Formats: sequence, structure tokens, C-alpha cells
Amino acid sequence: MTDSSDLILEDNPQPHVRRFTINRPDKRNALSTPTLSELVERVVEADANPNVRAIIVTGGTKIFAAGADINELAIRKMPETFVDPRPTLWSQLRRTRTPIVAAIEGWCLGAGNELLLCADICVAGESARFGQPETNLGIIPGAGGCVILANRIGRSLAMKMVLMGEIVSAEMALSSGLISEVVDAGSANERALEVALKIAGRAPLALQNAKAAVNASFEMSQDGALSFERQAFSSLFATQDRAEGVAAFLEKREPKWSGK
Ligand code: COA
Repeated sequence: MTDSSDLILEDNPQPHVRRFTINRPDKRNALSTPTLSELVERVVEADANPNVRAIIVTGGTKIFAAGADINELAIRKMPETFVDPRPTLWSQLRRTRTPIVAAIEGWCLGAGNELLLCADICVAGESARFGQPETNLGIIPGAGGCVILANRIGRSLAMKMVLMGEIVSAEMALSSGLISEVVDAGSANERALEVALKIAGRAPLALQNAKAAVNASFEMSQDGALSFERQAFSSLFATQDRAEGVAAFLEKREPKWSGK
């Protein structure tokens, strides 16, 4: 590990790849506000670093994250929820330009599942389990675990997860579109690194624009999203990397990206 705090470990497993590991095993990686703040602060910092082309977010070998910290929920009063920093933190994560790969082993619950919804490619070990248990605490998922979840996996399964606390297996998560890949239990991090390396080998500005355009399809009208996509496509013709990518193909060599 190159750098770490108590709550989030940070390392550079490969050039251009930054990895963040949630590290609160005694509380099953519950995403307390300090934990979420620390994670988001580090992801935002990596996102602003032109040398970082892919970000990995992961947890422990038996738990990704057990949700929000229930001890915080126990003492929070209603007026405090209106000045809660968490919505801004979630929004910052969702606005990240750099592709995020999530590696999940074990439980991925509540805010843990909402964290997964902020990632772009999600790899899970086959014994991973996903859920939104909040209605059993008298609340609802409040960071995308109703709205974005339904967009991602469809209304029927989202209703089962939210209304029944249905726990979804890795295979079901894959077939419903909640995650991108299932691998052998214990291999999610290794595969996430392979995925991150594949991403990091491609043109950085194209990646950022591609991510934004795919996301636009879920956030805008189709006309608006198509217009956004076309603008992004056109703007990339002004980049050095467009010239480099095309030249490298024609000269039958590997491209050297400048991120410009
Ligand atoms: N917030 C705060 N503390 C949590 C927590 C959470 N979301 N999830 C687990 N913990 C704590 C427990 O209180 C316990 O603390 P203690 O040792 O001080 O008593 C410790 O983590 C271990 O929890 P335990 O339930 O014994 O672990 P487990 O390995 O048997 O089970 C889970 C793991 C994830 C299945 C289980 O902890 C769980 O269901 N957690 C709550 C999930 C949830 O409802 N999330 C939604 C929150 S909005």
C-alpha cells in the first residue's frame, strides 16, 4: 500500500490504476459518514489526477460493505437529514469522470449496493450477495437504491429487493444487469485489476467522454443524450490522442496516449 488512512486503504497496483479498499472489518465495512467522506475525497482526488485512468473500489474478502452505519441512523434526527453531507458525497461519486471498477466479495448491502451503483464495471466473486435491507429498519434506500437500482435491474426485481429485502446471488445480479461479471470466489480483485488495466490502456479523454455519454442515456431524453453523444464525439477530434490513436492504427503500432 502506498498510502492509507484507517478507514480507506489506497494503493497503485499498476501505473494509471488507483485502488481504494474499504477497511472497517470490525463493523463489516459499514459506510459511516467519515468512511464515505474519506472514500469520496480520495476518489475525487484520483479523478482530478491526469495520470489516473481507472479507479478500483473494493472491500474485504468476506464483505464489500454492510450498508450505512446503523449507529448513525440510530441517533440521527429528521432535521439533520436535510443538512446531511451524504447526498453531495454520493453525487460527487456519480459525477466521477474516470471509469470506476468495483470488486465485490461477500455481502454488498444497503449503501454498499448503492456504492456499487456508482461504479461503471462491477466484478463479483460467485459467493457475493446483494441486498437493500433498509425497509426492515423503517427507512428506504436513499442514495439510488430505489431509483437507480430500478433503472439498472428493472422494476420487478428492484421491488423484490426493496420491499421484501430479497437477497440476490451473484448469478442473479449478473443476469439482472446489477453487475458485469462473476468470477470464482476470491478472484474479484484480480479480475477487477485486469479490467482496470484494459481500460487504462485506452485513450483517457475518449474514456471520460464515453462514460459520460453512456450515463447521459439514463439521465436525459433520448434526443438530449444523442446530442450530448455527438458533441462529445466531435470534441474528441480536437485532441492529440485522436490523431495518435488513428496514426498508431495505420502505422501498426501501439498508441502512446498523452491525455490531451
Ligand atoms: N452499521 C453498523 N454496524 C454494523 C453494520 C452496519 N450496517 N453491520 C454490521 N455492523 C456491526 C455489528 O453491529 C457488529 O458490531 P459489534 O461487534 O460491535 O456488535 C459487527 O459489525 C459484526 O456484525 P455481525 O452482524 O455480527 O456480522 P456477521 O458477519 O454475522 O453478519 C452482515 C454480517 C452484513 C450480514 C450483518 O452484519 C448485517 O446484516 N448487517 C446490517 C445490514 C443492513 O441492514 N444494512 C443496511 C443499513 S441502512
